[in-house]
Amino acid sequence: MHTHVSVRPDFFVGRFLTNFSFPSIFLSARFLSLCASMFLCFLTACGGGGTGAGNDAVSAEKPMSAAAMVGEKIFKDVSLSASGKQSCASCHNPDTAHAPANNLSVQLGGAKLDIPGFRATPSLRYLNLTPTFFFSDDGTPTGGFTHDGRAASLAIQAERPFFAPHEMANKDKADVVSKLARAAYVADFKKAFGDAILEQPETAFSRIQYALQQYQLEDDEFHSYDSKYDQFLAGKVKLSDAEMRGLALFNRKDKGNCAACHPSAKGSQGESPLFTDFTYDNLGVPRNFKIPATANGDYFDMGLCGPDRHDLADRLDLCGKFKVPTLRNVATRKVFFHNGQFSSLEEALRFYVRRDTNPEEWYPKNADGSIKQFNDIPLALIGNVNTKEAPYNRQRGMAAALSDEEIKDVIQFLGTLTDGYH
Ligand code: HEC
Ligand code: HEC
Repeated sequence: MHTHVSVRPDFFVGRFLTNFSFPSIFLSARFLSLCASMFLCFLTACGGGGTGAGNDAVSAEKPMSAAAMVGEKIFKDVSLSASGKQSCASCHNPDTAHAPANNLSVQLGGAKLDIPGFRATPSLRYLNLTPTFFFSDDGTPTGGFTHDGRAASLAIQAERPFFAPHEMANKDKADVVSKLARAAYVADFKKAFGDAILEQPETAFSRIQYALQQYQLEDDEFHSYDSKYDQFLAGKVKLSDAEMRGLALFNRKDKGNCAACHPSAKGSQGESPLFTDFTYDNLGVPRNFKIPATANGDYFDMGLCGPDRHDLADRLDLCGKFKVPTLRNVATRKVFFHNGQFSSLEEALRFYVRRDTNPEEWYPKNADGSIKQFNDIPLALIGNVNTKEAPYNRQRGMAAALSDEEIKDVIQFLGTLTDGYH
């Protein structure tokens, strides 16, 4: 149960478009350069940042602010869409770790719920410690929201779904605010943001964004740290033999090497691992022909360098790179990677270890019978695909980094990352 805490309406005004969602220590290059490794750096900063969210295996439920409570209602309100049938929760379903319950590669939206999107819908779990996008001292792109990091905060991210033609497809901000004015909880909205709030649609819409952000930050359902693995790290439960073997394979640099990008160990201050280092990579995931946009041979979703993101369009070296997602709750996902190309963990893991040893299993053939490897990026940019780091540093004819039996063990381990273990 959440108790009501009132928030002064003037509290956000000055802070709204600034970097309020995250401790500014993240942006200090000096602090970053002091850190031995990116990952430790994040955890240290988080530890000092005051949220402490990662430190308790199961944190006692804290009261949510009035803004967060109305944010929950907005999140689940289908009346705020052109169809009258779609809310944030339709795609980010709380029952499936705030990801879609169905197995479509891309979700449908618009007034008739028949317009397909372009990317797989991510889980919204464990985003609360994601920093705003920045380049680290060694030039590594890091942080940010969505698959290409273009949204600087959860509040800024919350704007687009209301208007995207393939999502909630509203006309403009006034349209959304007039729908909210008819909602059953409009009194709560006024109580949180002031009686006159609806008279200024621009400001009212920014409060909607803020409320959605606070809901995602304040409700522990989004970051409960109560998976079997969390309880294992806290010394409360044991992992099975298969889960322990899977964990070792996940960490070993000569086997899965998964922890290189999806860190699995506690931080130096005991912070819980997030299974992402917030960086970006191009894994050469095959083109997903189930996404209608791919019918156009000139269409390529190239993540950091576009087309959804615009500021890095001339950084050709970053084309095809997508954010490393957390692997918490990954066993509950129905589709995998930014384009939803795979529909089981087994397929996703087989792809990791057999992409280079057996490319014919993953890519179509050219007219001359050769394999069209890395077919979801223009030929000139194929060099961006990561072919150096384990497990994708192999050649044709070599043994895969993980055998089928070992893949089964890693999947057993990934199953321990699901929230709500009892
Ligand atoms: C039709 C399905 C759909 C709806 C409705 C929808 N989303 Fe999303 N959401 C997506 C997709 C797809 C992405 C990935 C977008 C990208 O990478 O460009 C995403 C990304 C996000 C992210 C970034 C996650 C990350 O890993 O950085 C957040 C946060 C989010 N959505 C919140 C919301 C909120 C809040 C709403 C309601 C206002 C909403 N979404 C409505 C499909 C949806
Ligand atoms: C060099 C960095 C790197 C390594 C090593 C790595 N990953 Fe990933 N992982 C990524 C990136 C980047 C993505 C997102 C790629 C995309 O969407 O195109 C990803 C995505 C995934 C996904 C899909 C999750 C989702 O929500 O769609 C799974 C599952 C996964 N990784 C598991 C693993 C496992 C298991 C290993 C070890 C065998 C591993 N990864 C090794 C960088 C890495």
